Amino acid sequence: MVKKYIFLAFLTNLYIIGAYKPVVIIHGILTGAESMLVILEEIERHHPGTKVYNTDRFAGWSSLENAWHQVLEFNGDLQKICRNHPDGVIMLGYSQGGLLGRAVLQTYPDHCVKKFISLSSPQAGQFGSDFLHLIFPSLVAKTAYELFYTYVGQHTSVGNYWNDPHHQDLFEQFSIFLPYVNNDLPSTNSTQFRDSILKLDQLILVGGPDDGVITPWESSHFGYFNGTGDVIPCRQRQIYLEDRIGLQTLDNTGRLKLVTMAGVKHFDWHLKQQVIQTVILPYLD
Ligand SMILES: *[C@@H]1O[C@H](CO)[C@@H](O)[C@H](O)[C@H]1NC(C)=O
Ligand SMILES: *[C@@H]1O[C@H](CO)[C@@H](O)[C@H](O)[C@H]1NC(C)=O
Repeated sequence: MVKKYIFLAFLTNLYIIGAYKPVVIIHGILTGAESMLVILEEIERHHPGTKVYNTDRFAGWSSLENAWHQVLEFNGDLQKICRNHPDGVIMLGYSQGGLLGRAVLQTYPDHCVKKFISLSSPQAGQFGSDFLHLIFPSLVAKTAYELFYTYVGQHTSVGNYWNDPHHQDLFEQFSIFLPYVNNDLPSTNSTQFRDSILKLDQLILVGGPDDGVITPWESSHFGYFNGTGDVIPCRQRQIYLEDRIGLQTLDNTGRLKLVTMAGVKHFDWHLKQQVIQTVILPYLD
């Protein structure tokens, strides 16, 4: 009887280990782990037995804390997870969580992440009032740089990735985060920031034109405004053309996926079953 039970447990374990990699989830701004429960349920329903780590760090207002601080804390968590899963995990970050998660990889050269899914995240930065007003109702995009591009403004995550196309000099002078993780500005860590991304089997960047919060929505694919407000797609920007963080190499080796889905609002990416089934589940194997 005992033997039979052990054998069954062994089979179940094989099934679990063989089938699906563990998934590590990082939530978006001003929310916490509970906001990602629909994704968790969908994973459970379609891929039963998958181990999911749904982080609750920096929930609510603390999600506005300095991006580097959050990245280094998440980095410590991922190191523990990787020790338990040497065969690798899949990581998914939603909105701000996708930008922070990407930086976590970059600060962890030996990470075990095989696939990274960025779900509507401001990878090239953010410049728009709709987003701003969620957090700072009285700020307007046009003048927000006066607050964000200061020593004090850099104490908040939003300031760290606020990318004002009309004040690029101040952005590069003051921002302590985005110009570095995107290797716009060289640092002693530039090579590591690129190599760590190149360790991925797949980088999946999800976004869409009806998002309404990420501005421009193409930032979810590393596209961004140029100095006259035109949106330049990822593959035509310097970050890609100069392969600053490995995007072009990933692309040339079939490892970069730019996923576009229309008709999805920013607060639906992680809540609508049909969206999750279309843009997330196919990558979780
Ligand atoms: C950058 O590299 C230096 C060592 O060269 C290290 O002390 C520092 O923690 C690194 N910073 C990040 C964010 O990786
Ligand atoms: C921005 O891109 C548009 C379209 O490609 C181009 O016409 C314009 O000159 C560019 N502006 C700058 C400042 O490069």
